[in-house]
Amino acid sequence: MTASPDDTPYDLSRYVRDVGTLFDRGLDLEERVRLIAQCKRRLVNGGQALPARLGVPDPSAPYTRNLAHVDPQGRFVVIVLVWGAYQETTIHDHSNWCVVGVHAGTAHVTDYDRLDDESNPDAAELIVRGSSMAFTGAVLALLPPSRSNIHKMANASRAPMLSIHTYGDPGTRANVFHLKTGTREVMELKFHNIPEGVAPESVRLV
Ligand SMILES: [Fe+2]
Repeated sequence: MTASPDDTPYDLSRYVRDVGTLFDRGLDLEERVRLIAQCKRRLVNGGQALPARLGVPDPSAPYTRNLAHVDPQGRFVVIVLVWGAYQETTIHDHSNWCVVGVHAGTAHVTDYDRLDDESNPDAAELIVRGSSMAFTGAVLALLPPSRSNIHKMANASRAPMLSIHTYGDPGTRANVFHLKTGTREVMELKFHNIPEGVAPESVRLV
């Protein structure tokens, strides 16, 4: 029997195609992100291995960011994060929407509320809003404005963790917050294990 397209495994390339199709439908932001999260849930629960290069850690990185896909129309990027034991991000925000799926391992996510009015560009006063565990197969979605989505993500254990992040921004710049000093700065984020022929500076979204 010949498999129909719907019987084929739901892998990264099918996910990327579906996300592109959702953009083509002209949905509003919230509905589009909700449906992207559904696709992401299917991807991280589908049991399909990622291309091997996307799981390669960079030993010099605080956590590894492997660029998986740049939408040719500049609407989104997909990045695979490879986490060693207890590795974690800084406290940061996202200027646009973001959908994260835990492909393997367990994440610990801490969310923050911003208390100041942003009148001082170098300062920020944060308070922990809460934290949660995200196990293999879990999906989290964030929306703008950036002050509402400030968080830190970590590998909750010694076991390796893989997560798949889809962003409506290039994923190369974020506000980073320092709790103890009450300060904020802009941080440029790097990609690791860049495949030959891909220039990271080419990651520009519309
Ligand atoms: Fe994030």
